[in-house]
Amino acid sequence: MQQLRHLLSQAIGNGIGNQPVSLLNLACGRADETRVLADVFGKNGIQISGMDIRDRELDIARERWKKLLPDNAEAEFHVQNGTKLSTLKQLRDDFDVVFMRHQNYWNGDTTWKEIYDQALHRLDEDGMMVITSYFDREHNQALEAIQSLGAKLVTNIRNPDSRILLDAKGKSVDRHIAVFSKL
Ligand SMILES: C[S@@+](CC[C@H](N)C(=O)[O-])C[C@H]1O[C@@H](n2cnc3c(N)ncnc32)[C@H](O)[C@@H]1O
Repeated sequence: MQQLRHLLSQAIGNGIGNQPVSLLNLACGRADETRVLADVFGKNGIQISGMDIRDRELDIARERWKKLLPDNAEAEFHVQNGTKLSTLKQLRDDFDVVFMRHQNYWNGDTTWKEIYDQALHRLDEDGMMVITSYFDREHNQALEAIQSLGAKLVTNIRNPDSRILLDAKGKSVDRHIAVFSKL
């Protein structure tokens, strides 16, 4: 996680102001990166909403993060389909940050484009959307899809220290990171 911490700090620079931050961690799975998100984005406090379609992973996240966060950080986890965000009245529509680690465009381009679109609609006008990717080509396709929805690419970094995964060719952890704005 040290590497993601470093990568995120590099990618967002001074992009976080002096206020508490609201962050949507979309398609978060077990949300292993929750502490890193709290440290990098939450210097003035943070409210993290994690969301995934898989219940079991979220149970693990809930159990783990009910105790391991700093006092000024809170995390809650919701089982939800990311393509149905627009129907969730209880979810705020002005998140400061929407984060998607290892976005999964290749697992269904139409579905994931819908997830990106709905995520952008939940982002504050001044907010940032941050994605990471496992693969080069999948990352580039996600960049295209997100920009075609009107977002502006602000930062795009190939992580030189990305840890190689052997289960697929050309796959590595947080291989790329990109930051978008709405304006
Ligand atoms: C490649 S995994 C990444 C998980 C986690 N962010 C990580 O980096 O370990 C993709 C995640 O997307 C979730 N997912 C797939 N389709 C989804 C949907 N329609 N709505 C919400 N989550 C979805 C999966 O359950 C899975 O946890």
